[in-house]
Amino acid sequence: MSYKSVFENSMSDPEAFWMDAAKHVDWVKPPSKALSSEKAPFYEWFQDSEVNTCHNAVDRHVQEGKGDKTAIIYDSPITGKKSKTSFFELQEQTALLGGLLQSQGVVKGDRVIIYMPMIPESLVAMLACARIGAIHCVVFGGFAANELATRINDCTPKVIIAGSCGIEPSGIIAYKPLLDLAIEIATHKPEKCIIFQREQLQAELIEERDLDWVSSLQGIKPAECVTLNGSDPVYILYTSGTTGQPKGVLRPTAGHIVALAWTMKNVYDVEPEDVFWAASDVGWIVGHSYICYGPLFNGNTTVVFEGKPIGTPDPGTFWRVIEEYNIKVLFTAPTAFRAIKRVDPTGEFIKKYDLSCLKTLFLAGERADPDTIKWAQNHLNIPVIDHWWQTETGFAIASNPWGIEKLPIKLGSPTVQMPGYDVQILDEAGSMLPDGTMGAIAIKLPLPPGTLTTIWNADDRYKSSYLEAFDGYYETGDAGYKDEDGYLYIMSRTDDVMNVAGHRLSSGQMEEVLASHPDVAECAVIGAADALKGQLPVGLLCLNSGTKKSELDIIDECIKLVRSQIGPVAAFKTAVVVNSLPKTRSGKILRGVIAKIADGEDFKAPATIDDLTVLDDIALALKKIGYPKV
Ligand code: COA
Ligand code: AMP
Repeated sequence: MSYKSVFENSMSDPEAFWMDAAKHVDWVKPPSKALSSEKAPFYEWFQDSEVNTCHNAVDRHVQEGKGDKTAIIYDSPITGKKSKTSFFELQEQTALLGGLLQSQGVVKGDRVIIYMPMIPESLVAMLACARIGAIHCVVFGGFAANELATRINDCTPKVIIAGSCGIEPSGIIAYKPLLDLAIEIATHKPEKCIIFQREQLQAELIEERDLDWVSSLQGIKPAECVTLNGSDPVYILYTSGTTGQPKGVLRPTAGHIVALAWTMKNVYDVEPEDVFWAASDVGWIVGHSYICYGPLFNGNTTVVFEGKPIGTPDPGTFWRVIEEYNIKVLFTAPTAFRAIKRVDPTGEFIKKYDLSCLKTLFLAGERADPDTIKWAQNHLNIPVIDHWWQTETGFAIASNPWGIEKLPIKLGSPTVQMPGYDVQILDEAGSMLPDGTMGAIAIKLPLPPGTLTTIWNADDRYKSSYLEAFDGYYETGDAGYKDEDGYLYIMSRTDDVMNVAGHRLSSGQMEEVLASHPDVAECAVIGAADALKGQLPVGLLCLNSGTKKSELDIIDECIKLVRSQIGPVAAFKTAVVVNSLPKTRSGKILRGVIAKIADGEDFKAPATIDDLTVLDDIALALKKIGYPKV
């Protein structure tokens, strides 16, 4: 069937389309129907079904005789370690950890935070929660204690599972002190912490509260898969919004399994016998959907890679992994390729490996610039497919539907809307715009199965963040257009969210931290274009008069403050002092205008600015720190 007819089927008869996709799931009780709209706009999919996520990712493959097959390959160039975990071993490990959680009183619906590095135990922790019906909430290791505390307060976990440390090229990052500090700051206190001690750094345990993962498993009764209702949540994953308070995207159980299993063949064109590698981190949505759940639902071998595309030890590390494990599909963010291309522009390291197993490269997480795509295409000699999605949707909104029909690739476009997504380009009043015209990208409700159902504990925020701008639509927060062939082009965000190395960060969140510095009267943070990371944050600071400190000292303190409050992942390393900030008459800071000045782009000074010298002043200050860069 052509993409066009598959897409049209999903629009004309979504019930039949998704009930058909649901046949691939191993249900406890199959759904009698796909969509339930009774609680709209809180739509539910497969609401009357009964199912377990871990069963579909692990146990069913063991039952089907594939217990000896490798489920997880762990490759860690940063520690020199490699290992393989079979589906059978994964079942044993998740059952035991699930049993340990149950022995600590964790039951269906309880939350468990996971703060772990890129080791197979992170997947075990996620699956163990899913096995017993606990809602996991993975927090990326690059976030600081304060961010962890915000999430602890918001989702109130009964237990936290953490690694003793992460390992970055800069050295060992002790996670346990960050965890202890987060619990100290947080108003909610978890009852227990389960600590996975890595050999690189043994953490000190707090007697009453902390359990050692490995020794605590002694004598534990393995947990069975607990039956959940289709619309029970499987996990919460926090993502940046426009304020300092992150949004806890809530993922429903049944729709998640149906949608991800469907994408493995239809989007990525992989068969169960293939090895699939998403080079990301379990702390991000790509890690949830395509390091852990999607490949495992499909019975694929997945890869947990603990390293960087360059420097661990060289820019050939991706190619070595691909050759060594016979990887068919690689999925990563464009920034990884920009990093490799910068160090190995002529692809010398690529030539050292036999990459004949690699059939496709998928990119997402940020705009894929045509230069990077062309470089990857030329050196790997395979199709390079940009696809567009968000934490909220959990799988591609737009992609080249590689397993349905291989559509022509157009550079700069993530191709077409996926089945289930009715994507429209709207003007400010919510009217549809003609092809070729830029506007807000919105998706007609209901969203397909597997997408977010709400924000954890914040139904009103879900409505105000996503559903109120355009009646009957989900607002993606991205702006772009469609061409005459229906290809989408994602050009920018419509809010103050920036994208740094494929990570979504909030201007407002960094501004809140900077504003807490005693010498900062006012501030703005913008995302300025960066050749490696796509964007980098730049802070503009207005200081209180009469401060005794030097500007350089204050800037230095501000940089340290963001690192300690948000974490190294914020990559906040540049700030400059300015006299004042450009604002609208109602007082809104014109971050978009400042970003255009930083990027050396043309802009029209808004009529709302009375004093244009403010903009000259900003341009001068940015010039001092090297902006625009070209
Ligand atoms: N735990 C603790 N610290 C972490 C961390 C973790 N899990 N992950 C990253 N950090 C730290 C890094 O060490 C770095 O700290 P530094 O300021 O001391 O150098 C900082 O957070 C920023 O990390 P990162 O954005 O990864 O930058 P980098 O310079 O270390 O690497 C790339 C740059 C491009 C190589 C890297 O971002 C990359 O491989 N990206 C592509 C893949 C990807 O992760 N995509 C995510 C979405 S699909
Ligand atoms: P996250 O939720 O962290 O995955 O970030 C989602 C955001 O990243 C999207 O809303 C886009 O702004 C951006 N993004 C993701 N994929 C793409 C892509 N292929 N092209 C352009 N922008 C993208």
